Amino acid sequence: MSEPAPAGSDREADRAMHGATHGAPNGVAVETRGLRKEFGALVAVQGLDLTIRRGEVFGMLGPNGSGKTTTIRMLCGLMQPTAGTARVVGHEVTTEAEAIRRKIGYMSQRYGLYDDLTVEENARFYATVYGLHGRERTARLDAHLSELGFDSRRRQIAGTLSGGWKQRLALACATAHRPEMLFLDEPTAGVDPAARRRFWETIYELAGRGTTILVTTHYMDEAERCQRLAFLSRGHLIGIGTPAEITRQFNEPTIEDVFITLQRKDEAPV
Ligand SMILES: Nc1ncnc2c1ncn2[C@@H]1O[C@H](COP(=O)(O)OP(=O)(O)O)[C@@H](O)[C@H]1O
Ligand SMILES: [Mg+2]
Repeated sequence: MSEPAPAGSDREADRAMHGATHGAPNGVAVETRGLRKEFGALVAVQGLDLTIRRGEVFGMLGPNGSGKTTTIRMLCGLMQPTAGTARVVGHEVTTEAEAIRRKIGYMSQRYGLYDDLTVEENARFYATVYGLHGRERTARLDAHLSELGFDSRRRQIAGTLSGGWKQRLALACATAHRPEMLFLDEPTAGVDPAARRRFWETIYELAGRGTTILVTTHYMDEAERCQRLAFLSRGHLIGIGTPAEITRQFNEPTIEDVFITLQRKDEAPV
């Protein structure tokens, strides 16, 4: 977990180097009220009230179709809500999507990499989308790709990378501009255990620097690593709290049991 760093520690120095304390007056990264999204007759997200604190590693769980990706897309300013409000890193999603996009990173469910571009070209493309340009972009990408271990792979075609390296590249693409908040939609699906572990180490490093993380996952060991969890079912928020609070709330021995019970309920006819 990310305990506060003592003054003069590496983490403190790191934070200074990155120029990002991400300190908000109220310490809130995400606040939604009555957030709703309809697709025709289907209500994908209903009346969502959610608060995520700055620097928190927050997990969103729920069966397929429960509204996780739709929620993330609204919070990233990529999709307009049908109703309700959401503030993300200090801006309204409905009117300040552009400002939000510059302060966040989004790793979509299918990584969003261009298979026929090289590692470097993918990273450059995303850095540009997130507002980096010119010499700053070049310098930032050089350092960033090197830090993430891509030195010998910079000219490799992304489509030829292993699953673990693709995931790492997608993360590199979402973080080169040092976002205040990261949205990770099933970032570890289909990735081997060693790469998953490395990925989570990186996530906690980022959180330690003050980056807020919203992550969705179907892996229960990953859910247990989150500081707090929200459970969605058919577009409703049905539980929120630390992993221990959630298991208590649902009276189940583990998060996995909560998930399975929920999935059964969701798959039953309405
Ligand atoms: N662009 C869209 N048009 C119509 N229906 C959609 C669209 N995106 C998602 N949905 C529907 O909204 C519901 C929630 O989907 P989604 O947010 O992707 O859930 P999750 O990420 O939890 O699997 C599903 O029933 C899905 O089919
Ligand atoms: Mg999804």
